[in-house]
Amino acid sequence: MTSFWQGRRVVVTGGAGFLGRVVVSRLQAAGAEVAVPRSRDYDLTVPGQAERLLADTQPSHIVHLAARVGGIGYNQAEPAPLYLSNLLMGTYVIEAARTAPSVEKTVLLGTVCSYPKFTPVPFREESLWDGYPEETNAPYGIAKKAHLIHAQVNAAQYGQRFAYLIPTNLYGPGDKFHPAVSHVIPARIKRCVEAKEQGEQKMDVWGTGRASREYLYVDDAAAAIVLAAEHYDGTEPVNLGTNREVTIRETVELIAQMVGYDGELVWDPTKPDGQPRRRVDPGRAEELFGWRAQMPFEDGLRNTIDWYLANRAEAEREP
Ligand SMILES: NC(=O)c1ccc[n+]([C@@H]2O[C@H](COP(=O)([O-])OP(=O)(O)OC[C@H]3O[C@@H](n4cnc5c(N)ncnc54)[C@H](OP(=O)(O)O)[C@@H]3O)[C@@H](O)[C@H]2O)c1
Repeated sequence: MTSFWQGRRVVVTGGAGFLGRVVVSRLQAAGAEVAVPRSRDYDLTVPGQAERLLADTQPSHIVHLAARVGGIGYNQAEPAPLYLSNLLMGTYVIEAARTAPSVEKTVLLGTVCSYPKFTPVPFREESLWDGYPEETNAPYGIAKKAHLIHAQVNAAQYGQRFAYLIPTNLYGPGDKFHPAVSHVIPARIKRCVEAKEQGEQKMDVWGTGRASREYLYVDDAAAAIVLAAEHYDGTEPVNLGTNREVTIRETVELIAQMVGYDGELVWDPTKPDGQPRRRVDPGRAEELFGWRAQMPFEDGLRNTIDWYLANRAEAEREP
């Protein structure tokens, strides 16, 4: 740990969220003074709020994590706010950061959902613009990807400094388990636990199970964000992943086994699989700022299940 963060002021938008809370504790542990704006006090989809936030907090660094985020069901149900809220929040934060005198650098979080539906595996950053994203991910993925262009043109024209990171699917303790917004891992942990408790003989699962995902433990993602904020100053996007591809079928079977659910898994191919395959090349992150994911998937999954079982009310609260 360097002394870089000692006494620095950092704003973490979305700092009360799943990833945000881990980023905030890491920054605080490194000596930073961290402001966590809540949406009820600073609604970042409203013009002028990002400027007011930066005037109130005077940060040297911004980590912009505030977003509307959910799993495949949420993406299907709420495409309009997923597009517009995410686009507006990032746009306002980038512009406010550009003109705020105290701000040295802004870290922006992209998403693996921005990649084209059929990207060669492993996804390399150069492929980001080679096609349209998988349809259910497109409103969210395109809004997020627009922030990269915004930051790049501001860097070219005004010298604004930023880092743009593209994590794969996050998971870990503190994740959201409410069905309205949960991603595949928390959704399946909750269903397997309930199916076991209720003695269900069968459990329905969306899709064919053949699609693959790459899961990144939330602490690994937070470590990358803090490292990039300190050390990475380029204008190219950087993937964050583990280099391990897991099919949805393997994911659900592993969760069922860890939870102790031994009923039959009934796959429903009429429901969408989402993007067919996902695994990113994480080489650039190691090369540019020395980051590599540490958490083995099975251990991270165990921690997530244990946290859920110990914190069910908090985990399942309404978004
Ligand atoms: N989760 C994943 O799998 C994943 C994968 C790739 C990238 N990411 C990116 O990582 C970041 C964090 O994701 P997460 O899963 O931690 O999300 P999260 O738990 O849903 O947290 C998002 C936070 O955004 C804030 N927010 C939402 N609308 C806002 C608004 N209008 N104004 C101000 N703040 C607002 C909320 O603050 P309040 O609590 O105050 O309302 C919330 O705490 C996002 O940028 C996301 O796109 C996530």
